[in-house]
Amino acid sequence: MQTITRKEFIEQVGVGAAVLFIAACAGSCKKNSSSSSAPTNVNFTTDVSTGPLAANGGYLIQNGVIVARTSAGAFIAVSATCTHQGGTLSFSSSDTFNCPLHGAQFNTSGVVTRGPASTNLQTYHTSLSGNSLHVYS
Ligand code: FES
Repeated sequence: MQTITRKEFIEQVGVGAAVLFIAACAGSCKKNSSSSSAPTNVNFTTDVSTGPLAANGGYLIQNGVIVARTSAGAFIAVSATCTHQGGTLSFSSSDTFNCPLHGAQFNTSGVVTRGPASTNLQTYHTSLSGNSLHVYS
């Protein structure tokens, strides 16, 4: 049987704990980054004459993007994924994006207005031509 000194034991346990911590963080830390979960190269159109976008306060989720029509009738688009831990957002008639998992809230510019999320949402451009809404990066 091999014996080790206290110093060697602490060094080995310390290295093992560091490896475990890094492995655990590698999975969960990614969820806090909006850049890793927000869609890129967004480019699609949707008809706003029918469906949820036909009325103020309506919204839909397409290609990982939540497209909403505000209470004033403006079209806005942000990532549909909460920057806290990846919950799928909804849009409310009070013009806020809400996460059902832990209650985070974002305004129409994608800015965090209530935690626990601390990172703003990725926003996308919108352009209306007739009844066709173009959503793009
Ligand atoms: S995942 Fe959205 S608040 Fe936690």
